[in-house]
Parts: sequence; structure tokens; C-alpha cells
Amino acid sequence: MARIFLHKLIMRNIKHLAIIMDGNGRWAKKKGLPRIEGHKRGVSVIKKIVQSADDMGIKYLTLYSFSTENWKRPKSEVKFLFKLMEENLKKEAENLHKNNIHVLFAGRIDELPLFLQKTILEMKNLTRKNTGLRLIFAINYGGRQEIVDAVNKAFEMNGNKKIDKDMVRKFLYVPDVPDPDIVIRTSGEQRMSNFLTWQSVYSELYFTSKLWPDFDRNDLKRICDDYQKRKRRFGGL
Ligand code: IPE
Ligand code: IPE
Ligand code: MG
Repeated sequence: MARIFLHKLIMRNIKHLAIIMDGNGRWAKKKGLPRIEGHKRGVSVIKKIVQSADDMGIKYLTLYSFSTENWKRPKSEVKFLFKLMEENLKKEAENLHKNNIHVLFAGRIDELPLFLQKTILEMKNLTRKNTGLRLIFAINYGGRQEIVDAVNKAFEMNGNKKIDKDMVRKFLYVPDVPDPDIVIRTSGEQRMSNFLTWQSVYSELYFTSKLWPDFDRNDLKRICDDYQKRKRRFGGL
């Protein structure tokens, strides 16, 4: 208890952590397993990391789960991923709710299969009054698409008048979320792959060669500790 409290104090300036959970397929390949086994293992890591982020007093956690480009994968893998999401959202619903976690979704949700849309809606409704960690799953998410969608909505609302930055921000998929302080990408790739394009302009970036299924709370803790040493200037002095 005391340890958690102390940690919350130390981690006080991390509000929003965002993660590109990459490397499931390579993890499986290394073990001679089908790619889907990597995705399954990845889910168990999500559970632990959600818990750790909550323990650290982080307020917002965004997890990149499926990009607008991931539709290019074989149909069977895409279908498996959606089924896996549905299954685990259902399985974890009560537990997340019990822990006061508010679950949200960013992306073009209306293009997802209906069974998943239904589960997403149920999860949003179940947890909507919770005041703890905001857990945001980015599904069918593309940063460029998000900006275009926001600009179009702002344009509709605003008639012919010019649109400014505040208006675009207001119409992002999940409003009222501070920009991520930290973006982590696992698997050794060093790119953003269309993640949080608007929001990440001043985020501190961390790239680790660990594959997502091997990532654990100690890795997270190390990154958060290192973050304490970074000087954020936002263009100032
Ligand atoms: C991340 O792992 C999960 C998703 C993108 C859905 P990958 O499936 O991209 O794993 P690698 O990059 O092929 O190893
Ligand atoms: C980014 O990973 C998307 C998610 C983790 C959901 P990818 O594996 O799709 O990214 P690229 O193709 O290597 O850039
Ligand atoms: Mg990948």
C-alpha cells in the first residue's frame, strides 16, 4: 500500500501513456508458433500493463490495437483479432468495472464487425460513470483519418467560418484527453505507424527492442523512471 502510494507520488507528472503494442507475430515466429499465438499472448500482457499503469497513478492509457492499415493483413488474421478483442472485452468487463476503470475507444468503430461494435458499446455503457483510469483502445484507428474526420465535423458545426486548432481538438475521437506524455513502441521498429498524429507532437518517445508479448511491468517502470529525467521544453527555454 505504502509502496503504491510512494510510486504515485514519484510518477505524478505522467498523465497519459500511449503504447504501440508491436511484435506479436515475430514473438510467435521465434517460437515456431502461428502468429495468432502471439496475439493471444499479447492480450495477457495488456492485462498486466493496465494494472501497472493504474497502480502508478497514470490517468490515461491508450493502447494501439488495430490500425486503419491493418486491414491489409490476411482476412483470417483480421477476423481472429476482432474475435479476440470481443472475447477479452467480455471476459474483462466486470473486473475493469470493479476497478473503476472507464473504457473508451478511438477509431472508426462503425466500420468494425457488428459483434464487436456491440461489445464495445456495452463496455462503454458499463464503465461510463467510472472515475479511475481511462483506458482507451485505438481500434481501426488512423491518425490522419482522425484529423480529417475531426476537421469535417468541425466544418459541419461551424458553417463556413474558419476552423482553428481548438475546434479540431474538440472533435478528435475521444475528447478531453491530454496529449500523451510518453509514447512507447515495442519490437524495435522506430516509427509511429499512423498513431496519435495530432496528439503526439510533443510526446517523449521510447523505443524498445522487446517484443510486446515479452514486455512487462519492469520495462514499464524503467521507462517511467527514465521519463522523470527528461527535460520537456515544448519549444520554450
Ligand atoms: C502487433 O503485432 C499487433 C497488431 C498490429 C494487431 P504484429 O502483428 O504487428 O506483430 P509483428 O510486427 O508482425 O511481429
Ligand atoms: C502498428 O503496428 C499498429 C498496431 C500496433 C496496432 P504495425 O505492425 O501495423 O506497424 P508497421 O506495419 O510495422 O508499421
Ligand atoms: Mg507489427
